[in-house]
Order: sequence, then structure tokens, then C-alpha cells
Amino acid sequence: MKTLKIGIIGSGFIAKFLAVAMKQVRHCEISAIYKRGGADELADIARKNGLGDPKICDTVAEVCNHSDAVAIYSPNYTRLAIMEEIADAVQKGAKLTGVICEKPLGRTMAESRRMVELARGANLLTAYFENQLHMNAINNALVQLRPQQEAMGNFTLARSTEEHAGPHNSWFWDPSKQGGGVLSDMGCHSIAICRHILTPPGKSPTFLEPVAMQCDTSLLKWGQPKYREQLKERYGVDYSKTPAEDFATGIITFRNPETGQLVKGQFTDSWMYDKQGLRLSMDGLGPGYAMEVNTLISPLEIFIGDEAAAGAADAETALEKSTASRGLLAVQPNEAHLYGYVTETEDMVNSFLNGEDAMLDWEFGVEVTFMVQAAYMAAEQRKTIDLTDSGVKKELESYRSLISQGKGAEVLFS
Ligand SMILES: NC(=O)c1ccc[n+]([C@@H]2O[C@H](COP(=O)([O-])OP(=O)(O)OC[C@H]3O[C@@H](n4cnc5c(N)ncnc54)[C@H](O)[C@@H]3O)[C@@H](O)[C@H]2O)c1
Repeated sequence: MKTLKIGIIGSGFIAKFLAVAMKQVRHCEISAIYKRGGADELADIARKNGLGDPKICDTVAEVCNHSDAVAIYSPNYTRLAIMEEIADAVQKGAKLTGVICEKPLGRTMAESRRMVELARGANLLTAYFENQLHMNAINNALVQLRPQQEAMGNFTLARSTEEHAGPHNSWFWDPSKQGGGVLSDMGCHSIAICRHILTPPGKSPTFLEPVAMQCDTSLLKWGQPKYREQLKERYGVDYSKTPAEDFATGIITFRNPETGQLVKGQFTDSWMYDKQGLRLSMDGLGPGYAMEVNTLISPLEIFIGDEAAAGAADAETALEKSTASRGLLAVQPNEAHLYGYVTETEDMVNSFLNGEDAMLDWEFGVEVTFMVQAAYMAAEQRKTIDLTDSGVKKELESYRSLISQGKGAEVLFS
């Protein structure tokens, strides 16, 4: 079988995590890396792990010319310009098959739609990387509960949270660069996974129609003077002037278009979760049956007492966004697999080699942007947004949240 040659643009945190996932997937290699911070380190990881001998490239076009598919893992504010260069390279003769984009596809509907337009205009297959829909912990539960769903009816409520103590790089904290705060960064996961859990077996990922959105955005920890100072010092952002939300919670209502039944997804995301590290928790409730996932419950724990002095050898390798290096610590033996990165990579590689879009294509990414932007609108307007209203849909097409415009004080301080 052919090997998919993947060119990578953006060689930071997620690129390295996905390289760990690639080690567990057949028929793919890293063929090229765009020369930016972390490129040499990523190339080294690839060589040491049998993931290829990537060429470090000075231009996006050069990456395209050395790859079958290009993955965009750069910061949110750089996406569109990179996609324009990819489309241009294809027009000039690069033989690309597909393009991959990490979540979120765009910071606004306009950006997400333009990403799709450029990809489809260049005749490229697409993969939208939303790892949580590929989590075996979720999908195995859904498979096991199929008989109950058939006998009793579908899930009626899904709850999903993603929380940690705050992102690792300054651009995430800058609301205009990132597209908002935690709702833009992690709400996209939680809203998408609620919809996935609620979707009846055998139906497409966009089967359920979003009909209403309620949401609240707040700044609970990082707006306090002590923590504002820390942000200024560490990341150069001033949350007294241009704040973003560190906590978001809401409810999205979906309608089953075949039966008319309404079901709900409740999402909560925070950058102020001062516990061991990243926690994903999801549950689904149907009539007479349920499922629940908590990624902080690991089969592996280590303990380091005060007397042992030094902390864990590498806290971040033990658990993403870990906040402690001694005491009773959860260690996840295979985080890349747990969070769905392995299965999402496998799906993309197999789909592209078969000439198909991945299970989640960029049109799916546009729908996620729609729901996330609707959540910002609901929080700003402090009311339930009717997602079936044609006027609201039109407004969302050109909407940019106040928080992402640097006017977060109007929403978060009143
Ligand atoms: N699925 C997930 O759970 C998950 C987790 C983390 C990040 N992400 C997403 O992945 C993307 C990258 O996040 P990250 O944590 O790796 O960020 P990062 O800051 O750690 O890495 C960004 C990389 O992009 C490079 N870069 C910066 N500007 C660039 C430009 N103009 N052109 C090309 N490359 C550029 C940087 O040098 C760096 O290598 C983000 O969109 C983020 O939302 C997803």
C-alpha cells in the first residue's frame, strides 16, 4: 500500500503530539516541515521514530511540492494566509491530494467559509482535526449502548467539559489572535462532542440540526490583579484592557429532523481548572442507560512524597498541562490514543489514500464555527439565540465577537 507523505506547517505543541500518534499509524510519514520555531526538533523526532526524513522547507509552496497532504498546525491567526499559499501552490502545479486543519477551522464564519472555498477550489480532499469525536472511550461506549438506543430511544442529554489551568503560548491568550478565549479554544471540542454523543447510530455527523444556543462567558481567575500581572509578565497580554473569557458554559439544543425530538448538549470549558492537569469529562444520558468518561482516571498512578524531594522526571509527559510534579499523580500511558489523535490520524490517512475526505471534513468545521460563534453571540446578548432564524444565520456570517475584537471588557466586566 502507498504511504501518505505529510507536510507539516506549524511545529509546536500539537504537531509533536500528533507525531506521537503517527508512530501508531501505518502508511504515513512526515515528508516536509515548514521552517519555523520547532521545525528542527520535529524533524529530529520524525527521524528517531521511523516517521521519515523530512525536508525543512523555506516556503509553503516547497512543503506542498514535497507532500501528498499538508497539515496546518500553526496558530489560528495564520491559517488563512497559509491556505491561500497552499491553493496558489496547487494552481502552480503542486500535486497535493489533501489538506488537514487543526481545530478551529476559522476564528469567524467568514474565515471558515474562505478556508473551504480555497480547499475545494484547489480540488483538495479535507480533514478537520477534531480529535474528541475519534476517542475510543466515547465510541466504544456508543457501540456498546446501541441495543439500548434501539430499544429505548436515543440519548437525550450529553454533557461535556474540557478544562485545564491555561494554555502554553502567548497567542492563545490574545483574544484577537486566537479568536476569543476558552470558548473559541476548547468550546469547539465540547460542543462538537455533545452533538456526536446525541447523534443516532448510523447518521452523519451533521444529522442533528442545531436549533438554539444559550451561553455565559466569564473571567473568573485570570482577571484578578495577581493573575493579570502573571499574564502580563509571562505572555505580554493585559487582561485589564483586552480580556478573554477563562470560563464558558452553555446549552445547545438540537432537533432530530426525522422525529422532531429535541435533545440537549451542555458544555463547560475553563482555563482555571487548578487540578492535576487536563481533564476531559463527558457523559451521555438516555432513557434507562448512560455513559461516562473522565480522562483523569488512569489505570496508572505514581506517588512522590516530600521526602523524595525532586518532582516527577517529566510532568508534561505524564499528563498534558500537568500542574504538579509530586504527590499522588495520574499518568496516562498513551495520551495520544486516549484523546483520539491516533484514530483521527488513521482515519485521515486511510481516507486520503482512498481518495476520500476524512470522516470530519472542513464543511463540518464550518458547522462547529457556526455553533461556537452563536455561543459568543448568546453570551454577549444574554439571551437564547434561535439558530433556525434566517436573520440570525445571516448575522452570524459576518459576526465577530466583542471579545475577539479586543472589546471583552464590555462583556466580561459588566
Ligand atoms: N486538538 C487539540 O486538542 C489541540 C491541542 C492544542 C492545539 N491545537 C490547535 O493546534 C494549533 C497549534 O497549536 P499549538 O498548541 O501547537 O501552538 P504552538 O504555539 O505550540 O505552535 C505553533 C507553531 O506554529 C508556528 N508558527 C507561528 N507562526 C507561524 C506562521 N505564520 N506560519 C507558519 N507557522 C507558524 C510556530 O513556530 C510553532 O511551531 C492551534 O490551532 C490549536 O488550536 C489543538
